[in-house]
Amino acid sequence: MRLNYAFAALCGLQATLVAAKNTTWPWQTFKSSPHEPPSLKISKSGLTSPGYLFFDQSWDAHQYSVFIMSDSNELVWQSPPGDLKGFRVQKLDGKPVLTYFNGLGVPEPFGWGYGIIQVLDESYQSIYNVSVTNDNYKALGSIDSSSFVSWIDMHENTMTSDGTMLVTGYNVTQADLSSVGGPKNGWIADSLFYEIDVKTNEILFRWSALDHIDQIPLENVQPFYPIRDWGHNSSSPYGYFHINSVDKFQDGTYIISSRYYCSLFKIAKDGSVDWTLQGQTGGDFALNGIKFSYQHDARIHYETEDAFTLSIFDNANSDVQNGTDHTEGLLMNVNLATREVSLVQTLHDPRDEIFSTSQGNTQMLPREHKLMGYGSNPKIKEYNANGTCVMTAQFGFDGVISSYRSYRSPWVGVPKTLPEVFSCIEQGRNKTNVYMSWNGATEHKQWKVFGGASRSDLKPVAVLRKTGFETVASIRESLRYVQVEAHGLGIQKGVSEIIPVKSGC
Ligand SMILES: *[C@@H]1O[C@H](CO)[C@@H](O)[C@H](O)[C@H]1NC(C)=O
Ligand SMILES: *[C@@H]1O[C@H](CO)[C@@H](O)[C@H](O)[C@H]1NC(C)=O
Ligand SMILES: *[C@@H]1O[C@H](CO)[C@@H](O)[C@H](O)[C@H]1NC(C)=O
Ligand SMILES: *[C@@H]1O[C@H](CO)[C@@H](O)[C@H](O)[C@H]1NC(C)=O
Ligand SMILES: *[C@@H]1O[C@H](CO)[C@@H](O)[C@H](O)[C@H]1NC(C)=O
Ligand SMILES: *[C@@H]1O[C@H](CO)[C@@H](O)[C@H](O)[C@H]1NC(C)=O
Ligand SMILES: *[C@@H]1O[C@H](CO)[C@@H](O)[C@H](O)[C@H]1NC(C)=O
Repeated sequence: MRLNYAFAALCGLQATLVAAKNTTWPWQTFKSSPHEPPSLKISKSGLTSPGYLFFDQSWDAHQYSVFIMSDSNELVWQSPPGDLKGFRVQKLDGKPVLTYFNGLGVPEPFGWGYGIIQVLDESYQSIYNVSVTNDNYKALGSIDSSSFVSWIDMHENTMTSDGTMLVTGYNVTQADLSSVGGPKNGWIADSLFYEIDVKTNEILFRWSALDHIDQIPLENVQPFYPIRDWGHNSSSPYGYFHINSVDKFQDGTYIISSRYYCSLFKIAKDGSVDWTLQGQTGGDFALNGIKFSYQHDARIHYETEDAFTLSIFDNANSDVQNGTDHTEGLLMNVNLATREVSLVQTLHDPRDEIFSTSQGNTQMLPREHKLMGYGSNPKIKEYNANGTCVMTAQFGFDGVISSYRSYRSPWVGVPKTLPEVFSCIEQGRNKTNVYMSWNGATEHKQWKVFGGASRSDLKPVAVLRKTGFETVASIRESLRYVQVEAHGLGIQKGVSEIIPVKSGC
């Protein structure tokens, strides 16, 4: 079991469960900023799509945050610390926004969370928090629910074009587990999903798996998630459904993904199950040789009246079954008229096969490129149109650090915060070093440095090109005070505070 340390600290998890933190993967440090993002190990063998990489990191990660980084290992923005997941660019009112889960992640073997979805604008200001506060929930027995503010789980935060968001929730409740050999008065983790108005938090649609147990019986999950000792108390509920994605069809119905049923379900507007696409047997479909299991991130593309393209992240591995089949991105054509599924493309890197036991996603990019985030294996891979891997970015050891989802996206960031600066004198060398950065700013190209003997007597001492997240200037003078100014095309200049120069570097 992997521990989420934020969780362990908050909930006082027994010491016996707390393993030593593995901090051996290298991270970057800066003089002007406290941020310490992972050092990305990047290999490229072809053209990649434009845009930055967006990802979260947890488990043994050095700093729990979300990151925007470039393909050249340059930090663009790091968020304040927190157990944050599912970080990406989406659109609200036609404008790009950043969204991510912020809350309490409960580690495997549970693997769900309690929190809010934050929505930030281009200046990184928090503009909306999507939350579920007044639905009647019960948390995992070992957790004090006063430690969080909302019941939204980390698995989903998909924004629709109607200004709504699709999110998930986990409710610990009682159920009769005797049909799968568990206790009659057993405990279960029900999976819910919602469609919520982003601006008002009004719940527009609400669905629970337990409410539809007649159509989705417990027996069907048992082969993939044996009941074993689960279900005897509320600290150890049978987490049978494990919802991990929600997407919406044009007609207002939904497709949801269940990890342990190895299935995708189409949910009608009245909540009933229209069809099941099961990754081993097909369910209501003929699979034509396709197989998937423990999948994540089911997405609808190119929808027509009776067909659509479906993309999933096929883990094909879990704690129950692992190490046999490698993880793949799967693109399928689903024909609703003939109830046939046919393969469009599989995405995997034959030179680096991955076995991801949890999490992960597959994102469609322009020009038929695809990006995959590998969840329990902290790697991001981009594939070109013909399915060849053209980039791998790694930010931790496999199974040591994890990232729920990773994305690539263009982004223009215009922070409201000021550029940051640190400065020191190289002892005995009559030389002042000035370190400057501007967290989240993407448009500045140049820095101007001002320095002098007092706060009121600053003159320009250097102009230099931005060379990365942090740019360093060496001024052949002993300055007492410095200030920096970031410049770029079409942006307001960013001016730092005036700071005293430290006496020794
Ligand atoms: C951290 O994990 C890596 C990969 O599993 C391993 O090689 C290394 O020895 C571990 N370091 C510590 C301090 O546990
Ligand atoms: C959203 O929640 C965060 C974290 O609690 C808080 O800092 C922020 O101000 C909230 N934003 C809004 C718009 O309420
Ligand atoms: C959670 O379970 C409780 C107890 O069974 C039930 O009363 C409540 O309605 C459920 N909440 C949700 C959001 O489904
Ligand atoms: C709950 O059940 C599990 C599995 O049977 C057991 O290990 C655990 O001690 C129980 N916890 C409590 C609080 O009773
Ligand atoms: C799953 O299998 C892979 C590949 O054999 C291995 O690296 C990984 O440690 C396994 N994970 C678990 C949780 O057993
Ligand atoms: C796929 O693209 C790669 C990189 O552009 C190229 O080297 C390879 O030959 C292509 N493969 C096929 C089957 O077209
Ligand atoms: C430091 O360098 C500046 C600029 O070259 C010069 O004016 C000044 O005299 C030097 N100071 C010392 C102590 O060497």
